[in-house]
Amino acid sequence: MTTAPAPVDAFIAGLPKCELHLHIEGTLEPALKFALAQRGGIALPYADESALRAAYDFHDLPGFLAVYYEGMSVLRTEQDFYDLAAAYAAKAHAQKVRYAEIFFDPQAHTARGVAFDTVVRGLTRALDDAERATGFRGRLVMCFLRDFQAEFAMATLVQSLPYKEWIVGVGLDSDEAGNPPVKFREVFARARAEGYRLTMHCDVDQENSTEHIRQVVEEIGADRIDHGVNALEDPALLARIRERGLGLTVCPISNAHVTDGMKAAEIRALLDADVKVTVNSDDPAYFPGYVAENLAALRGPAQLSDADLVRLQRNAIEISWAAPAVREEFLAELAAYAENAGR
Ligand code: ADE
Ligand code: ZN
Repeated sequence: MTTAPAPVDAFIAGLPKCELHLHIEGTLEPALKFALAQRGGIALPYADESALRAAYDFHDLPGFLAVYYEGMSVLRTEQDFYDLAAAYAAKAHAQKVRYAEIFFDPQAHTARGVAFDTVVRGLTRALDDAERATGFRGRLVMCFLRDFQAEFAMATLVQSLPYKEWIVGVGLDSDEAGNPPVKFREVFARARAEGYRLTMHCDVDQENSTEHIRQVVEEIGADRIDHGVNALEDPALLARIRERGLGLTVCPISNAHVTDGMKAAEIRALLDADVKVTVNSDDPAYFPGYVAENLAALRGPAQLSDADLVRLQRNAIEISWAAPAVREEFLAELAAYAENAGR
């Protein structure tokens, strides 16, 4: 199911934003894909951008992931990764995203012969340049691919250690079927010992969704859950999530593409249950809509008032891993915006 784009109203457009669930490889827009392919002398099996978009015909997580990984073949050099992150940083700045924690999938690159250093250096250089130029702050979160062996994740974790100052946390993504959080128990324990913050995907409506959420909460002890909407099905689990102040980074337009809808009623219920839920864009080049469009799409169906929209941003910065000064600056700007708007 897809969603007709809802217009971004003035309140959403002006709202200072914090994004916590955004895969940098999922921001690879068709135009950039073609440009990088041309620069790298790579032949794409599509005549043009609209033929490429027409091939984005997926209805579930594995279908999406096949297209997503195939698209990465154009990312080879440090400059390619730089251009990818620079494009997202410009988009984020235009949408008043002040702070973003940005996933990247190093194994999807190292597995095809691209050096870890190339990936991290290109992304970091772009984010540093963007911060100097516009003030937009992007921090990296390294995701492990759960459909690979835990040993590969551990080796990637070790590989990342010299780059620790550039990476705020680690996550877990890719195909969830048969790949529960506990498969990576040792990897996440080591990551925590190394000082990384932890988050994990529990995608929507997966086989064993609530069991996977339980593992994250009870056995791994992650700081956040990416998606995690199915926690609503287990009131005791939901109560523990609320008590511990664990955040859920939900992605409505993404949900509409890989499940049976945006899950607007569920997101409303999470807000009403006082869970620290945030709204994010996931893979905006594939699930069309950056964070402003996600808020706009959700506003009507989830009956979000202006005050709810402010609360979503407050939740996001509160569950973020931003430095205290960044957090305070964001909260002050948000409060001033709300007050100015009379909310
Ligand atoms: N990789 C990129 N986007 C993802 C998602 N929404 N779920 C799991 N893995 C992903
Ligand atoms: Zn995701």
